[in-house]
Amino acid sequence: MTAELPQTDVWNGAVGGHWAAHHERYDAMLADFDSALFEAAAIRPTDRVLDIGCGAGPTTRRAARLARWGRALGVDISAPLLERARAALLPNLWYEQGDAQTHPFPESGFDVMISRGGVMFFADHRAAFANIARAVRPGGRFAFICPQPVDAQSVEARVFGRLAELRPLPPDPVTTAAHRAMASLCEPDRLREVLADFSQVAIRPVHAASVYGSDPEDAVDFVLSRGPRTEVAAEVRAAMAEVFTPYAGPLGVRLPSSVWLVTGVRP
Ligand SMILES: C[S@@+](CC[C@H](N)C(=O)[O-])C[C@H]1O[C@@H](n2cnc3c(N)ncnc32)[C@H](O)[C@@H]1O
Repeated sequence: MTAELPQTDVWNGAVGGHWAAHHERYDAMLADFDSALFEAAAIRPTDRVLDIGCGAGPTTRRAARLARWGRALGVDISAPLLERARAALLPNLWYEQGDAQTHPFPESGFDVMISRGGVMFFADHRAAFANIARAVRPGGRFAFICPQPVDAQSVEARVFGRLAELRPLPPDPVTTAAHRAMASLCEPDRLREVLADFSQVAIRPVHAASVYGSDPEDAVDFVLSRGPRTEVAAEVRAAMAEVFTPYAGPLGVRLPSSVWLVTGVRP
């Protein structure tokens, strides 16, 4: 068996490049989860906030605004995404490039850790959360969201299953590595195991809508832009647009989506 592509290559290569080029779209896909995430994080004006896997920084910026007398640090392994993030700085906001599993965070340097889907990609999750726990002060807390197990009956799974039938793609190592990592923390028992350095761990489902485009055509453009083949026959394109049509409305193409919201406290 060949070794899987390391996540640093995934996020500094095709996947990270696509996220950087389409950062507003990816933000729209995840933004509906923000109210649950930020309510759980309960960031106070003087808090020092750590955002793990901050990507282009939308949640780090929001954290910095809430912690107006504190500060927010975003950490990410992806150079192209951090370049985007650094294009919109605030006085109490900064970014560092690094692997959060081993990054030399200041011990007890943060009151709260947040992450919007940035904690699933570690080589060793147990070690990574131990490193993050050291960075959070005793009594500090965390709140993050991560994917649930794929439910084959969910709207998202059915839509993407149908799109895959319409546009079969050869297996590709980047997509395989990204998908496998995305699913790495979807089981609650696994989450509790890797979060052993925290107490009061709570895992609950959050339901929201992921916006894939302004209309079905736009959603198809986005799906195709992910490659590896960006061109398809006109009739395939039309059939793909039809798959999105039932979910299109004045606020765009909105697919119902569910994640875990995970919270806990550093003892
Ligand atoms: C699904 S994206 C989420 C990005 C961002 N949180 C958002 O909501 O837009 C996952 C992010 O985790 C980052 N990442 C992956 N592995 C990482 C690691 N070991 N340490 C820090 N960041 C990592 C990726 O580069 C990517 O930006």
